[in-house]
Amino acid sequence: MPAQTHISKLTLTNFRNYAGLAIDLVPGAVVFSGDNGAGKTNLLEAISLLTPGRGLRRAPYADVAREGGDGGFALHARLDGPDGQVEIGTGISGGDSAGEGGRRVRINGASARSAEEMLEWLRVVWLTPAMDALFTGPAADRRRFLDRLVLAIDPGHGQRAIDYEKAMRGRNRLLVEGSRDDRWFDAIETQMAETGVAIAAARAEMVRLLAAMIDRLPDTGPFPQADIGLSGDLEAEIAIAPAVDVEERFRRTLAEGRDRDRAAGRTLEGPHRSDLVVRHRPKAMPAELCSTGEQKALLVGIVLSHARLTGEMSGMTPILLLDEIAAHLDGGRRAALFSILEDLNCQAFMTGTDAALFSSLKGRAQFLTVDHGTVGPTI
Ligand SMILES: Nc1ncnc2c1ncn2[C@@H]1O[C@H](COP(=O)(O)OP(=O)(O)OP(=O)(O)O)[C@@H](O)[C@H]1O
Ligand SMILES: [Mg+2]
Repeated sequence: MPAQTHISKLTLTNFRNYAGLAIDLVPGAVVFSGDNGAGKTNLLEAISLLTPGRGLRRAPYADVAREGGDGGFALHARLDGPDGQVEIGTGISGGDSAGEGGRRVRINGASARSAEEMLEWLRVVWLTPAMDALFTGPAADRRRFLDRLVLAIDPGHGQRAIDYEKAMRGRNRLLVEGSRDDRWFDAIETQMAETGVAIAAARAEMVRLLAAMIDRLPDTGPFPQADIGLSGDLEAEIAIAPAVDVEERFRRTLAEGRDRDRAAGRTLEGPHRSDLVVRHRPKAMPAELCSTGEQKALLVGIVLSHARLTGEMSGMTPILLLDEIAAHLDGGRRAALFSILEDLNCQAFMTGTDAALFSSLKGRAQFLTVDHGTVGPTI
């Protein structure tokens, strides 16, 4: 079993509704309870910034900085993992140029080259109420979810996505300008083909591994097995053809599609249009046609299977952020979730307005009450 990485101390400065906060944390389950608006999700958002990207709300950094503060924010975590202790800090400074150039990351006091460096120390995965609409909502949300799952097992995925996006923005600019500069198009499309096929290959590999892990969920368990797949030309081709051939084909498709794309003003084909397709296996039903609770159970099964996969692949157990997790789960499913989390041996942060929903965890979890900018032990 992979060794547990856990946050042993979290310090926030001018982060959302926290002017200053320092809390000590234990391995295993941590339950944050408190009233609406107390600051529970804000704590999970802070932890979600210990991974590359803009965190679980995808908020602009200016919104994260506390109203009435100096425009900056900082968060700091002490991690205890198999390789000892690590200190990770991130934030933006205040003043006129607050947030320009993105957030800074420091690891053990030294500036990190990029946020990706945090992945050497920890992996963070989350499930939030906003994701309740994952199966029924826009494909873009599923793609983001998919790419975050890939990133947790394949840290290079973040850079691939950035490179592809950058190239595509360049191509879209040429399209909008009505450019006919074929040499420019050729150069950009070659880049898009390279990075695009790498993205598709990494997604396909993650889905293959995750599907095998989902198969290990019990047939009749509380979290149903999901059949997962990808829709997208590149993802389909990469499963049956060598990457170089798929790359060449995609490059040709882009070149031949210039006129059509010029009319549309954007690139119409590529991995930025792919989708994650999920079916509820026991019911033989597309996920989007399942009930709210069934969709939640399906998603929980996927996330827990992925946590297990991440542990096995990276040797690090991921840190799980489960916002309002108890809301749609009945008592039996809650108990099952808690026991799977223990079995996974990962630090899992859970929130709820009512600590009573977590009462079966008494003695096996750290209970903290969140009260408008302060956090203390639940009594
Ligand atoms: N930049 C900010 N500065 C100060 N306060 C903020 C900032 N951004 C959000 N808040 C406030 O933080 C408070 C806590 O928000 P949070 O989403 O963490 O609550 P919560 O405990 O998760 O509540 P719920 O149970 O409703 O989900 C809210 O009242 C919100 O208005
Ligand atoms: Mg909340």
